[in-house]
Amino acid sequence: MATIAVLDHDAVLRAVSAAEAIARVREGLLRHHAGAWVMPPKVYLDSPPYGDFRAMPARGDGLALLKWITSFPGNPSHGRPTVTGVVCLSDATSGEPLMLLDARSVTALRTGAVAAVATQALARADARTVGIIGCGLHGAWTARCLAAAGYGPGVCHDPRAEAAQALAAELGWRAGTRAQALGAEVVSCITPGAEPVIDVEDVRAGLHLNMLGADGPGKAEATAAAVAACVLFCDEWEQASHGGELTRAVSAGLVSRERVGELGAVLAGEAPGRPGPEAVTLFDSTGLAIQDLAVAGAALAAWRAGRVTAQSVVL
Ligand SMILES: NC(=O)c1ccc[n+]([C@@H]2O[C@H](COP(=O)([O-])OP(=O)(O)OC[C@H]3O[C@@H](n4cnc5c(N)ncnc54)[C@H](O)[C@@H]3O)[C@@H](O)[C@H]2O)c1
Repeated sequence: MATIAVLDHDAVLRAVSAAEAIARVREGLLRHHAGAWVMPPKVYLDSPPYGDFRAMPARGDGLALLKWITSFPGNPSHGRPTVTGVVCLSDATSGEPLMLLDARSVTALRTGAVAAVATQALARADARTVGIIGCGLHGAWTARCLAAAGYGPGVCHDPRAEAAQALAAELGWRAGTRAQALGAEVVSCITPGAEPVIDVEDVRAGLHLNMLGADGPGKAEATAAAVAACVLFCDEWEQASHGGELTRAVSAGLVSRERVGELGAVLAGEAPGRPGPEAVTLFDSTGLAIQDLAVAGAALAAWRAGRVTAQSVVL
């Protein structure tokens, strides 16, 4: 019988700070680019008409991970979260399960963290101000991670004014309109991706855009013309071209593989980053299992070091 440590939502967030998540995700992107961390494509299991399940495996640094997570867009109207699930972390040398973790908190931390990593790599060196478009769960963690990386102040925009105001109050930023959020030097979009929130006239010289909401087929937060007007980067080309912000522009023949840099290659210095201060850079995040591995590995290390207490289950 195996005894497995279990970290619930709050324990994951106690175990891994935003600053550590940023450092670990950056390292995970580099290791994946170097081929040391591996990640088969994620598997989608539709559950019509409610949403879909995703199975996301990754292996690296002696650990193997499977995240089993949902996107059920109608859930908030029933008082339930859009995204929910479980992460299983195993020993990659013996196959034994080591830890179960709440997938919502792992996902929120790694999603916010990659926005900060992309911003550090791709935004103008003097960029500080932040616009957040979409202040739900992942918008809030994007804002927290950007703040932890030294960005801000920011403008938080959401049709749910209370969500924008609560996030702004937490960070000492302010709530505002979409246009005010778009006036920032770093703009992050984390809406459900049902309709574009960025059009071509919003693409202003020097801007850096993090597009995080479109993480599956059929979703987009920018028009294809707006995407095509930017210098483009993504977390992983296969995912981004088939189920990300780039997909529509790729399908329309406006964007090809050669135009898009992967963030890991940019971090490794093997692909060009921002071409100059006037360029508009766009990072398409679809969400990678190696990001989950980076955060879950940090949580395991925190538990082993006694910095966080876990529950346990005996199988
Ligand atoms: N890229 C990734 O790695 C990644 C990870 C997790 C989730 N996601 C995706 O991010 C999106 C948001 O997820 P969430 O869990 O934060 O959802 P959520 O429901 O908690 O938040 C979405 C927010 O967007 C707001 N919104 C809706 N339309 C808007 C508009 N036109 N302008 C501004 N705000 C608007 C909503 O009011 C809500 O507050 C989903 O599509 C989800 O699948 C991506």
